[in-house]
Amino acid sequence: MDIENKIIAITGAAQGLGASIAKCLGNQGATLALIDLNEEKLRALQQELRNNEINSEIYLADISNEQQVIKVIAEIERHFSRIDGLINNAGIIRDQFLNKPDKQGTIESLSLSNWQSVIDVNLTGVFLCAREVSKLMMQSQTKGVIVNIYSISRAGNIGQSNYSAAKSGVVALTVTWAKELARAGIRVAAIAPGFIQTEMTHSIKPEVLKRIESSIPLRRMGQPDEIAHAVQFILENDYFSGRIIEVDGGLRI
Ligand SMILES: NC(=O)c1ccc[n+]([C@@H]2O[C@H](COP(=O)([O-])OP(=O)(O)OC[C@H]3O[C@@H](n4cnc5c(N)ncnc54)[C@H](O)[C@@H]3O)[C@@H](O)[C@H]2O)c1
Repeated sequence: MDIENKIIAITGAAQGLGASIAKCLGNQGATLALIDLNEEKLRALQQELRNNEINSEIYLADISNEQQVIKVIAEIERHFSRIDGLINNAGIIRDQFLNKPDKQGTIESLSLSNWQSVIDVNLTGVFLCAREVSKLMMQSQTKGVIVNIYSISRAGNIGQSNYSAAKSGVVALTVTWAKELARAGIRVAAIAPGFIQTEMTHSIKPEVLKRIESSIPLRRMGQPDEIAHAVQFILENDYFSGRIIEVDGGLRI
């Protein structure tokens, strides 16, 4: 795919990896449909893009809500007539051990609400956005691309039952959809970032960060633009589908 003049929708675009992907693809000439819950940050990003002569529209939606996803994709269709690419990037963490005793020996369990909210955004949200966008791609006969952002945590990570389960589900969806949608000329692929410097990783305690960095063969966290670069590769390479790129500095969990 030649990115120039393509319409690319990005979820969770207001900050972090989403915002970096928006700037990277915008610099290649894409027009962007930026989806997020955070209006203030979306507006600030849109202004920054505008200053660099990059076209974008912003859309407020909760990707875990079916009606909101249907509505927002219909709005994008009304505005642009088609979507060439979807970057399924929005995600949250609600880390908690399955069961963990405190100092008094009382066991705190992973709450159903923490389980459900991560599954709703990181798995159901990916499903809903991909379903609506691929439907539109089929109706408009657009040979589009869907890129799912998941995580090296898919293999299982301490304190992340909910996150790991959701992200490993995203791998299965990526392979399934690549097989199903190939007949419509739609490619689907995924990227597994390692530890990348964004708001999501700001909350990690400095001593824990030090330990993480020393376990990464390249001895540093990744930068958002290094993930954006992998997104660009997937969009541009017409023979890449059903596969995953791991951008993690060599880290194995
Ligand atoms: N940062 C990392 O180290 C890292 C590593 C592996 C995977 N990832 C994945 O990359 C993606 C982006 O991560 P990030 O670090 O940029 O996170 P971030 O927290 O900085 O940004 C996430 C964005 O998603 C938006 N969002 C959250 N819930 C939403 C919802 N229901 N509907 C619409 N938007 C919603 C937030 O408002 C925010 O703008 C996530 O899927 C995350 O799991 C990140």
